[in-house]
Amino acid sequence: MKMTVPKFVSMKSKEKITMITAYDYTQAKIADEAGIDSILVGDSLSMVVQGNNSTLPVSLDEMIYHGKIVKKGVSNALLIVDMPFMSYQTSTEKALENAGRIMKETLCDCVKLEGGEEFAQTVFKLVSSGIPVIGHLGLTPQSINVFGSYAVRARTKDQAQKLIDDALSLEQAGAFAIVLEAIPLELASQITQKLKIPTIGIGAGLYCDGQVLVFHDMLGLFDDFKPKFVKRYASLKQDALKGIKDYIKEVKNNEFPTLEYSYE
Ligand code: KIV
Repeated sequence: MKMTVPKFVSMKSKEKITMITAYDYTQAKIADEAGIDSILVGDSLSMVVQGNNSTLPVSLDEMIYHGKIVKKGVSNALLIVDMPFMSYQTSTEKALENAGRIMKETLCDCVKLEGGEEFAQTVFKLVSSGIPVIGHLGLTPQSINVFGSYAVRARTKDQAQKLIDDALSLEQAGAFAIVLEAIPLELASQITQKLKIPTIGIGAGLYCDGQVLVFHDMLGLFDDFKPKFVKRYASLKQDALKGIKDYIKEVKNNEFPTLEYSYE
């Protein structure tokens, strides 16, 4: 059954919500077949697919390209596409125009953008124009140059209060969910209790309404670095290395292709 925004919201406090990133048809098809509730075409593709050292370089056209090819592999999951750096920060009008392009060209269900109270007006504009929005607070990777590191956020009382206020103002502006990244689990729990909309955690502990992980991280494909919150559920890089090494050995030793893999 196709996941919709209202169904996703109604899962709060009833059933934990699952989310994973995907960046192409095959990844999306695997996640969808596994029964995931939602798939995010994250701007993390800048790092795990394009090999950049931050999420800043990925363009709107590239996000749309990946959104389109992911869409082809999705039957049931809610499909979310990230708004990349500088596609919504310059003005509300620009944000609407770019979110509109994402929705029309990828046929996704909704968009996600980073930031709190300062983007409430943008969220309101998008939602009132028919574009559902997920917020993203805590560690917001598009602001890496302001913070200078990917360390856990909101450890002081003032920062924690600011995060709570941001979450409430995004909810009031019409966001239907909020991703909480790399914040103390007690704070994530407090925010989850204060909001009527679901919280989706990544490095935000067990008490969020759902969890999200990056495809390449959780399946062990990407090992340039591993944040504390990443649990590896598979070792695909190790499997791939073994497979390719076996293939090289067999070709070099004239063991592949045997008759089974040849046309007589
Ligand atoms: O881009 C991304 O993958 C994300 C998740 C980490 C939530 O925003």
